[in-house]
Amino acid sequence: MTMAPESPAAESPAAGRSPSLIATLPGHWYTDPGIFQAEQERLFESLWFCAVRGADLERPGAFRTVRVGRESVLVVRNRGGELRAFLNVCRHRGARLCTEESGSVRRGLQCPYHAWTYDLDGRLVAAPNLRNMPDVDRSERGLVPVRLREWLGYAWVCLAEEPPSFEETVVGAVTERLGDADAVGRYGAESLALGHRVGYDVRANWKLIVENFMECYHCATIHPELTDVLPEFANGYAAQYFVGHGAEFAPEARGFTVDGSAGFGRIDGVSEEQDRRYYAVTIRPQVFVNLVPDHVILHRMFPLAADRTLVECDWLYAPEVVAGGHDVSKSVELFHRVNVQDFAACERTQPAMDSRAYRSGGVLVPGEHHIGDFHTWVAERVAGSAPDGRPRTP
Ligand code: FES
Ligand code: FE
Repeated sequence: MTMAPESPAAESPAAGRSPSLIATLPGHWYTDPGIFQAEQERLFESLWFCAVRGADLERPGAFRTVRVGRESVLVVRNRGGELRAFLNVCRHRGARLCTEESGSVRRGLQCPYHAWTYDLDGRLVAAPNLRNMPDVDRSERGLVPVRLREWLGYAWVCLAEEPPSFEETVVGAVTERLGDADAVGRYGAESLALGHRVGYDVRANWKLIVENFMECYHCATIHPELTDVLPEFANGYAAQYFVGHGAEFAPEARGFTVDGSAGFGRIDGVSEEQDRRYYAVTIRPQVFVNLVPDHVILHRMFPLAADRTLVECDWLYAPEVVAGGHDVSKSVELFHRVNVQDFAACERTQPAMDSRAYRSGGVLVPGEHHIGDFHTWVAERVAGSAPDGRPRTP
């Protein structure tokens, strides 16, 4: 499974493509509100979307609201300890049921407008004068449920009437990238504890953020701390360029930390082969996972507009690291700097997406050809294929 950075074409998913430069999406794909709306409909509202970390909703009644495409989705823990998701819309007159981003309710979810009240499974259980309203069939006026799956410790929701297979589109994507069905399972992400979280408000299109995450051509220029720990990144080939490849730590790096100092013990289950390596996975459309021996970093993107994306980044450690009050700042600081550097780069490109210079897009140099697969995937889902089989450009 190891890679040879010198001969990427042999092992890369881009093998077989022309070795010449290929184009990115045209500039207007990153700015056009119509395209963004089509992406909301055909990607974020149609695919599995990683919404909430389960452990953030510890007790029954704890809830969080998240934006999924154009909808507000309410995720809540019910009395039985299970997570439930609903459209955050009161069935009476459509008021936003929960206006806070997170919180906790005791007696169910009460609408702030006319006080209709729903239990934690979404059933309408009370409303003023309900007795005098024989026409209101309570069983038909419950909150609209949203499908939910839990994986890696997160609640993934899907707004589609017929959701795609979770196993194929989410789990399968990770397996395919890591080249090993159990590689991610060995990190036991669902039992890790949250050591730190940072939310970034990025003034850039979500696809620029995905493209940036998938490439490493920029690493030598903007990520001095990261290339110190992962020297092969200075060559410009991303770990994601090679199926199953984990980038090896520098011999002098004792851990995946901002100064190369020691991290924590290997997470139980992480294999010998995974030790001292960094793996990166993109789960389309909005999740990035980084795996290192002693922690997992998971980014969730919440695209808000064509030129604005919220990114929430979680650093997850073995429970004893967090419970023991160990200082995680050295490892947090490394990827926080990477995030700040990456998002600044994305914000630097966003304004130029409208320029005449970028009308037909930019180029993907050979080390970035795997990003072309992402563009094809987006374009085909959003705009369909033209008769010649190439993705249409709306
Ligand atoms: Fe919610 Fe009236 S809109 S109770
Ligand atoms: Fe980067």
